[in-house]
Amino acid sequence: MAIIYLNGQWLPDSEAKVSVFDRGFLFADSVYEVIPAYAGNFFRFEEHIQRLNQSLESVKMDLRFDGQEWLSIGKELLAKNDLKQASLYLQVSRGTSAIRSHEFPAEIMPTIFAMVSELPPVVTSKQKTKGIQVISCEDIRWDRCDIKTTGLLANCLLLQKALESGADDSILVRDGKVLESTSSNVFAVKSGQILTPKLSDELLAGVTREFVMLLARNLGYSVLEVDLYEADLQEADEIWLTSSNKEIRPVVGLNHAKIGNGEIGNVWREMNQAYQKLKYNLYQGEFSEIAGINTL
Ligand code: PDD
Repeated sequence: MAIIYLNGQWLPDSEAKVSVFDRGFLFADSVYEVIPAYAGNFFRFEEHIQRLNQSLESVKMDLRFDGQEWLSIGKELLAKNDLKQASLYLQVSRGTSAIRSHEFPAEIMPTIFAMVSELPPVVTSKQKTKGIQVISCEDIRWDRCDIKTTGLLANCLLLQKALESGADDSILVRDGKVLESTSSNVFAVKSGQILTPKLSDELLAGVTREFVMLLARNLGYSVLEVDLYEADLQEADEIWLTSSNKEIRPVVGLNHAKIGNGEIGNVWREMNQAYQKLKYNLYQGEFSEIAGINTL
């Protein structure tokens, strides 16, 4: 049984209860973050908390919680659940009101929830060693996908569509433009250059995306944030999906056609090795800086 954090209390998950009038439950009026930990050290913690604060501000929630408070909750959860390689989930909803009403109640206390779960070793996972298959889908989400809200029904439907077609994920496209996947950002490698959709309200500013761009530039690659079209993906030598839980995941097929030669690419191999090295250094507790990148 997992121990979770709910509104200042540490509880076994079976005892943690949220009201049916919680606005997170009724309206998906809540935002969240997912932060990986390797060997008990959180990876890019500050960047995740910064994004959480941006999400809170975008939805006009006022939460006076600083990074240190989140960090001590995260560390306590790792300790209480005896986990070192884990995914920390933080969720803040606007809170619970007496009745169901769309308007924001004047007096309301946010519901604060956090949990950790074991992070499977992605390096050896089949999806990582063999690469994954994706399909492209018209994006049916709202226009503020830069906010990390728990309103993820469209993302779930779009993932399910991919799974039911025998693929592993969907790449979301709007007016021909590639945005991201259902829970990761998208990269393409073309003639040695690394391309990724430029940021807008239509996609999440992934913490891993930012880190992968830093890493690639430090390895000497040119990285461009561009308008990326579906045709660019079809002609790409490599495609990757990036997220905190998936790290850098190679895509070897799009809409049942091969990407490149249909095998994992060399740029991915180099990038993945560099990524794993950083994790390894964290594992040694060195908090190393690789090529000027602060890992914590
Ligand atoms: N998802 N785009 C979307 C729509 C996402 O949901 C995520 C992350 C990302 C990648 O962001 P980051 O690199 O900061 O993890 C991009 C998390 C992992 C989730 O919903 O579980």
